This record gives sequence, C-alpha cells and structure tokens, in this order.
Amino acid sequence: MRPKDRFLVFGSPLIEDREIEEVADSMKSGWLGTGPKVRQFEEDMKSYKGARHAVAVNSCTAALHLSILAAGLKPGDEVITTPLTFCATVNAIIHAGATPVLADVDPKTMNIDPERVRGSITPRTRAVVPVHFAGHPCDMDELCGIARQHELIIVEDCAHAIETEIKGRKAGTFGDFGCLSFYVTKNVVTGEGGMVITDNKDHAARLKVLALHGMSKDAWKRFSDEGFKHYQVVEAGFKYNMMDLQAAIGIHQLARVDENWLRRKEIWERFDTAFQDLPLGLPAPIESGNRHSYHLYTVLVDEEKTGISRDDFLNAMTWHGIGVGVHYLSIPEHPYYQETYGWNPEDCPNAMRIGRQTASLPLSAKLSDADVADVIEAVARVLA
Ligand SMILES: Cc1ncc(COP(=O)(O)O)c(C=O)c1O
Repeated sequence: MRPKDRFLVFGSPLIEDREIEEVADSMKSGWLGTGPKVRQFEEDMKSYKGARHAVAVNSCTAALHLSILAAGLKPGDEVITTPLTFCATVNAIIHAGATPVLADVDPKTMNIDPERVRGSITPRTRAVVPVHFAGHPCDMDELCGIARQHELIIVEDCAHAIETEIKGRKAGTFGDFGCLSFYVTKNVVTGEGGMVITDNKDHAARLKVLALHGMSKDAWKRFSDEGFKHYQVVEAGFKYNMMDLQAAIGIHQLARVDENWLRRKEIWERFDTAFQDLPLGLPAPIESGNRHSYHLYTVLVDEEKTGISRDDFLNAMTWHGIGVGVHYLSIPEHPYYQETYGWNPEDCPNAMRIGRQTASLPLSAKLSDADVADVIEAVARVLA
C-alpha cells in the first residue's frame, strides 16, 4: 500500500519547465488573453493533425457545441451519438437545440456500432457524433459511408483521441469537424481548453465568430499594435475563446505529444502483460495499421468472475493509494436523460454493462516505473 502522502492521483499530467517558462513569459508580457500564442497553438495543431483550419476554444464542450451550431442544425433535428461517453457530448447536442439519439456501442471496441447508427436513422437525422473511446479509433470507413449515403454531418469527439490514427490519417480529419479536449487529464493539457479542426474555411470562420460573442472577424486583434479595430456583432455568440495563458502550456505539451505517447504505450503494454491471467476484461487490441492514443486503460470488473464488485474494486484501489476513474456510467443511467428523453439503461445493453463494470487505472506519462509497479501490485492484491 502506498503511504497517504504518495497517493497516485488519477490523470495527473506531466508538466515540464518549458510550459512553466512559457506561462511566465505570458504573465510578464501582460498579454494573458487570446493572442499570438493561441494562434501558434492552432498552427501547431493544424500541422500535427493534417487539418486545414483550427479554432482554439476554452473546452471540448464548447468545441462540440459550436461545431453542431456551425453545422446549421435546427430544433427538432436529430443527432446520433454513443451512450458510452462523458455527459458533455450529449449536453452539447442539447444546447445546440438538437435532439440526441443514442446508438449502442460495440462490446469489444466500446465505440459506437455503425450498424446501430444505421438502425437509428430517421427522416430527421442530420448528424452523427462518434467518440473515439479511450483513444481506440471508431470505424470511420463505415460511419463516413453512412454519412455520405444519408447526407449527415459528422462531428468527431476526439477528447480522447489526439494521437489516434486510422490507416495513417489522424482522428478528427474524417468528419466535418473534429473536437479536441485539453482538460487536465487529457493527453495534451492546457488546464481547461479545446479546439475544433476542420477542412472547411466557412465552418472555421463561423466557429471563430461564434466563439467570441458573434463579433466580426479577428475581433481579438482589436487591442493589438495594428491599432484599434471596430468590430460588428453579426450574431449572438458565446464567450468560448482560449487564452494565451492556456496556449502557452499547450504549445509545449503538443511538442512532446509523441514522446509522452511512447511512455504511455510502454505502460499500457506492461499492464496488458501483468493482467493477462487475471479474471479482468482488458482493452481490445488495436486493429493493425491503426494507432491507439492510449488515453484510458480501462478494465472490466465482472463480479461473477472476480468475486468483487466494480465499486468495491474502486474503493480497494483507493485504499491502496491508487487513484482510479469510471469512464463512464452509460448516459441513460442519469436521471436527467431518463426524465427528459424517457431513456432506460437497458436500451443500450452493451454500454450499460461496460458502464457498470469499468474502472480506469492511472495512465500518465508522469508515472515512474515504481508507480506502474504499484498499480500492478494493487490490482493483484485487490483481486487476490
Ligand atoms: C468523450 C468526451 N467528450 C467531451 C469531453 C468534454 O471535454 P472538456 O472537459 O474539455 O469540455 C470530455 C471530457 O472529459 C470527454 O471525455
């Protein structure tokens, strides 16, 4: 058991001197808000992802909300998404005025099942929001095929999928919009933060306007050395812009993204080996030619096989000094959605079972070899 003062915090990010110095540089310059560092972070992400445009915002929730608005959806339009996601995915659809529709996941990949998407299409369906769950790529060939056939917009929720690739192409570049999260536990962090990538110039322009009160183009420059610029409010937008203070962290996090990925891959492989003979469900192997982002290492605790319930497993891990997470109780487990949409967990049985059995173990590039050994030992002890 780890001593109390060495509790292994779940999802604690690896922050290095470069980020700290860059934040200090912003503080000293006095330019804290949206400015050149945000522009630089957008440029860097465009190159990393191979996307034509990138619009930085203050969360992935904002990125999803604006993407659905920019897609031109209207009240009553239906958007199909996965029940195995963070509530933000579904809430963004609701806030954009559309109606969420759930299509259950594939039990192995834990990603939205294209066949169930097909089965959920109605004359009102306008968009699909797939989530590359834990960093495992969705079947974008199938989803894009369905979208083409039914003229649907695709908004990829890439909150877990910065590094995810399908046949050499980065997640987020298959759909009309790709939404990224830089929340503290993510693979690239800015504290809070998000970004939309898109190849469509008009979509990018609309996203920029919507992200800053609906003010006309490049409103953030109005206090720059180019001189004061009048702006016009062209629609009722939101206050969703990213700050330079956040981008200062993100620029250096992104520069080390593949280095950190390699470290998480190493940890992932150690977990796979250490747990292979335990009575746990382990993450599905990645299809050849694709790349997993190694964002979440989730195990399934089936009480009939382990003799311990998932919640007792979580508590016991915490008692051993290891922080754990749950990604996620399925969306229909929550009272708001039950009351508003009449959803029941049984409607999506695969997501329901996963949500009731899943536990996420720490998987950060910050973990030392000794930390990884502690996680492995704690799992073994808890199941013994
Ligand atoms: C799948 C998924 N979508 C969306 C979000 C929302 O991201 P953010 O916290 O940046 O708004 C998260 C965050 O945890 C997530 O995991």
